[in-house]
Amino acid sequence: MRRKIVAGNWKMNKNVIDAQQLMFQLLQYKKNNPASCEVWIAPPALYLLMAKDLYENNEIGIFAQDMSAHESGAYTGEISADMLESIEATGAIIGHSERRQYHGETDAHCNQKVKLALDKGLTPIYCNGETLEQRKAGQHLEVVKNQTEVALFTLSAEEIKKVVIAYEPIWAIGTGETATPAQAQEIHAHIRSLIAAKYGQEVADEISILYGGSVKPDNAKEIFSQPDIDGGLIGGAALKIDDFAKIIEGFNA
Ligand code: 13P
Repeated sequence: MRRKIVAGNWKMNKNVIDAQQLMFQLLQYKKNNPASCEVWIAPPALYLLMAKDLYENNEIGIFAQDMSAHESGAYTGEISADMLESIEATGAIIGHSERRQYHGETDAHCNQKVKLALDKGLTPIYCNGETLEQRKAGQHLEVVKNQTEVALFTLSAEEIKKVVIAYEPIWAIGTGETATPAQAQEIHAHIRSLIAAKYGQEVADEISILYGGSVKPDNAKEIFSQPDIDGGLIGGAALKIDDFAKIIEGFNA
């Protein structure tokens, strides 16, 4: 069944005190407001264990913002799927455009990471999305098709069902410019149809596809109401409890 999800990607923000405060506020919010969707956060890796301790009943899913494509060894600065499994993290974001842009990550890397995450029982949130130039050139459908195929289509049907996809057009990330609900819906339907063509409609209908890129309290509800949009991956607006809570409530109405 397609899961409804609101996930906060904190990126490289907050010191330990502020991170603990926001995690705590979110827990209090969650206890007092039964949500119509799952709520996940991806804080900096340094704070994952703190989140795990605080969310001992797994009310809130805990994700790394990235993980290594290697199992273990001499990879300074990296964290492994094994490590995430050992702290009982829920999963990891894989292939965020900021990892692609600043760290040279490719869809081939993403493919390795997604496989490794699934092997360890972690949920990958696989991100894709086109640049502004690609959209202006009318290449967005093709770009997202290639990304999806290279990163995911070596998986079995059982495996791909466990992947969450996040479509994040690069031109909409942190810019205040959001894809219109119709633009986002077009790509989400496109991704689902690619999966249906490869794995069958039943598999495609089980996969949650999130939208990311300047989701805010005032546009969340309309974006989430699109038939192929199953939630959001939220950056800036996940850093303040009031904004994040209002976005979660985009599913309640
Ligand atoms: P913003 O919501 O800040 O645009 O970031 C989106 C994002 O990159 C989430 O991963």
